[in-house]
Amino acid sequence: MTVMIRRAKIEDAQSIVSAEQDIAQEPGYFCSEPFELSEENVCKTIQSSQGIYLVAEKEGILVGHAFLEILDLQNLSHVAQLNIAVHKGYQGKGIGTQLMERIIEWAKQSGRVEKIELNVRASNTGAIALYKKMGFFEEGCLKRRVKAGDRYIDDLVMALHIKGDLPHRNISRVGVYGVVREGHKMLLVVQATGTYANRFDLPGGGIEFGETIEQALHREFLEEVGMDFKSMEPITNLTAKVEMPSKEGWPSYTFHQIGLIYSVDGLHALGTECKGSLKHDWIDLQTLKQEEVSPFVWAISRAEAL
Ligand SMILES: CC(C)(COP(=O)(O)OP(=O)(O)OC[C@H]1O[C@@H](n2cnc3c(N)ncnc32)[C@H](O)[C@@H]1OP(=O)(O)O)[C@@H](O)C(=O)NCCC(=O)NCCS
Repeated sequence: MTVMIRRAKIEDAQSIVSAEQDIAQEPGYFCSEPFELSEENVCKTIQSSQGIYLVAEKEGILVGHAFLEILDLQNLSHVAQLNIAVHKGYQGKGIGTQLMERIIEWAKQSGRVEKIELNVRASNTGAIALYKKMGFFEEGCLKRRVKAGDRYIDDLVMALHIKGDLPHRNISRVGVYGVVREGHKMLLVVQATGTYANRFDLPGGGIEFGETIEQALHREFLEEVGMDFKSMEPITNLTAKVEMPSKEGWPSYTFHQIGLIYSVDGLHALGTECKGSLKHDWIDLQTLKQEEVSPFVWAISRAEAL
């Protein structure tokens, strides 16, 4: 939904506060209770010169708002705190994304803001997905920070660094991967995101907390290719180290991958409704170039060529 985004005016305060009170009825979104949200405070924030207050408007109706408050103390004055809300009935239509884009654009042009910080309840998966999409990273977790009735909720601290490179990161992943052959072809997936985005990879992935290696590989096959299998036998263990440069505000990182590689037999489909989340196909490894495949696929294809 395309909306008009403009600076908030004092006359908007009433509808902003009633939209906030509406959202605050349900615990898990805001820290404030409805009675703690006041028109007076909204007016103060709109009038503040320390930041920006934007509203999204559709056909004369306010459908969302977002504001950045630059922190007061001199040594913190490069940091701005973000708050955002898309009003009930208008969520999930791209309005949050448009507000975030405009807020980030303003921060970049402000010449003052170097870092945008926010707090989000750990249970608010929709908001966390939006922030990650906009390039925010989790920087901390405040355990049991919010107490809604007798329910505790953790609060995540997330941030977007506008200026300056973020420190290089080392990321280690342990996963289990399946090799399935059909004649001289192998079942490969095309990774949609991540280090190997758009490259052919083995079906498989990380082992989740509490899972056995077998459970993890069955789950990964179901998720990625919508199929299950009868048996798995270990073939080898592989490691790979990939250097990823910084890109679009994301810090550079070294990806260290440890893979338990299994040969998989008795692959079977689970019905037409179960398609798997990744594109996949039977590929002749001899036709692939190194830059088209993940390091594990390359290592296996080289081993087979010998
Ligand atoms: C969180 C909020 C600001 C997001 O705004 P929105 O307009 O609903 O979000 P968008 O439609 O722009 O979606 C942006 C992304 O968020 C994610 N997202 C949105 N709703 C989601 C949901 N219910 N579950 C999972 N992801 C969701 C998606 O990744 C989506 O990107 P995509 O459509 O490109 O896949 C809005 O839903 C909201 O105000 N919720 C209530 C108040 C709140 O939680 N405020 C934040 C407090 S920290």
